[in-house]
Amino acid sequence: MRLLVCGGAGFIGSTFVRQRLAEHGDTVTVLDKLTYAGRRENLQDVDAPLVVGGIEDRERVAEAIEGADAVVNFAAETHVDRSIAEPDAFVTTHALGTYVLLEAARQRGVRYVQVSTDEVYGSIEAGSFTETSPLAPSSPYSATKAGADLLVASYCHTFGLEALICRGSNNYGPFQYPEKLIPLMVLNALHGDPLPVYGDGMQVRNWIYAEDFARGIGFALEHGEPGEVYNVGGPDECPNLEVVQRILAHTGAGEELIAYVTDRPGHDRRYSLSSDRIRALGWEPRVHFADGLERTVDWYRDNRWWWEPIRSGDYRAYYERQYGRPLG
Ligand code: NAD
Ligand code: TYD
Repeated sequence: MRLLVCGGAGFIGSTFVRQRLAEHGDTVTVLDKLTYAGRRENLQDVDAPLVVGGIEDRERVAEAIEGADAVVNFAAETHVDRSIAEPDAFVTTHALGTYVLLEAARQRGVRYVQVSTDEVYGSIEAGSFTETSPLAPSSPYSATKAGADLLVASYCHTFGLEALICRGSNNYGPFQYPEKLIPLMVLNALHGDPLPVYGDGMQVRNWIYAEDFARGIGFALEHGEPGEVYNVGGPDECPNLEVVQRILAHTGAGEELIAYVTDRPGHDRRYSLSSDRIRALGWEPRVHFADGLERTVDWYRDNRWWWEPIRSGDYRAYYERQYGRPLG
């Protein structure tokens, strides 16, 4: 297949690109705006041309989509805390950007996969969300992602675009920007910096190794039914405090580094996905949390070249704004 992968310089997008090239022999073009989260290093040693531009830019999109059989859209602003502090880019990328991409896909009649999130369903106390659960997003991040999902569904319903949506649970693994829980805690533990736990730390997330999510998206792309939504959830759930304790154990740092800080406004208590529909296509997650977390800690320990430029750059100012204290 000839794929246009939007947001392919980010964490999950680059994982997907590597997987498609190595395991499926696809031809890939990446379209990415290279925001703080989009990094050329994520695509080093990858044989795929990179078009630098926003998905909201009609001309760049027209250039990048040339010759593609399908579009897979990972491009997004992805951090809930940033969406609370500065929602602007979330609206532009998720609403306008998704619209521009959908128009381009419709004009060329190519298949379209929208990469979405379990956060569009909101929080769930017990049980798991299915694809027919109502959308009840809580943050500007999840609300704009839900809006994008609805627009995708409308292009399928109204114009007959071959569009599908994949909703993943919380991803983790190599190449994840250290604003997210796991890489942030790993790097702080390796540096002896405090580990900032929001509220009581008993919020639960359903963890999926990024390679497993990427494979799920590939399954939906190849075998999915146009118009369908596919939940792609990980095999394990874990409260944040336990995630942090496991990271301390793997890094050899002490529990005295745990620092309880003010809770995130509107913080969702628990996410949980039922993934029966994608499992029926033959997909299942391969990596359990205990194993994937250990691999992830090892990767960060062994790949300073990747995170050192991030941790010594603009990230420091972000960290100080977010946590009210400088990084050590
Ligand atoms: P990321 O923040 O690592 O990467 C996002 C990428 O999109 C970056 O390369 C960035 O430069 C690019 N980008 C941002 N705005 C753009 C624009 N307007 N035009 C073109 N490129 C743009 O994110 P990620 O964690 O890899 O997430 C990828 C997708 O998966 C997102 O759609 C996200 O909502 C979804 N998702 C993420 C998770 C998770 O836990 N990280 C879970 C479920 C779903
Ligand atoms: P995050 O990685 O931001 O993903 P999401 O909010 O999309 O689930 O956060 C995962 C969980 O970890 C969430 O409950 C918030 C919590 N968290 C902290 O306790 N401290 C932190 O510094 C961060 C970034 C997150």
